[in-house]
Amino acid sequence: MALHILEQVPLAPFTTMHVGGNARFFVRVKSIEDLQESILFARAKNLSIFILGSGSNILVSGDGYSGLVIKIELKGITYENSRVTAGAGEVWDEVVRGVVQYNLWGIENLSLVPGTVGGASVQNIGAYGVEACDTIFSVEALDTETMQIKTFLRKECEFGYRESIFKKNKNLIVVSVSFELTENGVPRVDYEDVKKYFEKKKVIVSTLVEIREAIVAIRTRKMPAPSIGTAGSFFKNPIVEVSQYEALKIQFPGIKAYPQGDSTIKLSAAWLLDHVGKWCGVRRGDAGVYEKQALILVNYGKATAEEILSLAHEMRCDIKEKTNVLLEEEVVML
Ligand code: EPU
Repeated sequence: MALHILEQVPLAPFTTMHVGGNARFFVRVKSIEDLQESILFARAKNLSIFILGSGSNILVSGDGYSGLVIKIELKGITYENSRVTAGAGEVWDEVVRGVVQYNLWGIENLSLVPGTVGGASVQNIGAYGVEACDTIFSVEALDTETMQIKTFLRKECEFGYRESIFKKNKNLIVVSVSFELTENGVPRVDYEDVKKYFEKKKVIVSTLVEIREAIVAIRTRKMPAPSIGTAGSFFKNPIVEVSQYEALKIQFPGIKAYPQGDSTIKLSAAWLLDHVGKWCGVRRGDAGVYEKQALILVNYGKATAEEILSLAHEMRCDIKEKTNVLLEEEVVML
């Protein structure tokens, strides 16, 4: 079937923030051939390209996007013993649900993280003590310079905290991801929220299904309902030198931090925003900070991208002024 490239497509409905203007060109790709053809189209017209998954971690400006938005709809999940391979366009949580049913361990703590499989590898998503890269075996990506598919083994993916080679190198478009899972896993329940959940329930957790249920319950309680416009954590947790942390600890004794195993320490941005900045529940018109999680910016109705950005700017300046810590955005701006 010929590729169906649309013009002037509103992007807001394709994002979980529900804001933003039009894409000059827009296409859904369901095969690698579609993807290659789309890239040639953009090249012929000298257009920039933006790769869209399920729009759960982006903020589109009111001006929209003047290039070609390629929505990745590459599907398919295959099981080969404990190796699971999924198309970049698969919904992340559906893959998690599936592998839990197959009794495969490794990604259950990442239950209910929004987005697609492609996004999960580009972003190296993380939650409750687990990161996607812990179980990623390899990633297949289209290199738009050579137009060839290339396989990247985990060590070649340059994974870091919300980082990967696919995020840094815009010539690489993820088409599928393989995960090496295990049939004999152990529950990972050291993360504060998860530990508390099971302590309260007074049960010793043993099955994958129980963990998935716990994570789903914790996230549902803490995160806004899917109908509310949000892009998850808006800022990254900042990484600072231990010396800076020690100084902050004197000023803010309750400060939450996670040692990185080197001379740096990851601070909880949510804690800083909540306890130092008192940002929970603050609203500027329809743009606001979620009342139960200071890291989550919310579009309560008709907020524009500019209003959300202005609120984020205000929060960043406030934390910088009070702690000298710079918060970096996790959400991708378009
Ligand atoms: N906290 C506060 N006030 C708040 C929110 C949290 O004091 O308003 C405290 C909590 O009590 C906790 C600490 O801050 O001790 C950390 O909070 P939480 O466990 O909710 O985690 P987070 O750092 O805010 C990160 C990820 C999330 C992931 C959770 C759970 C980042 C930027 N965010 O959030 O990922 O789900 O941990 O593991 O790393 C995402 O990236 O979009 C995302 C949702």
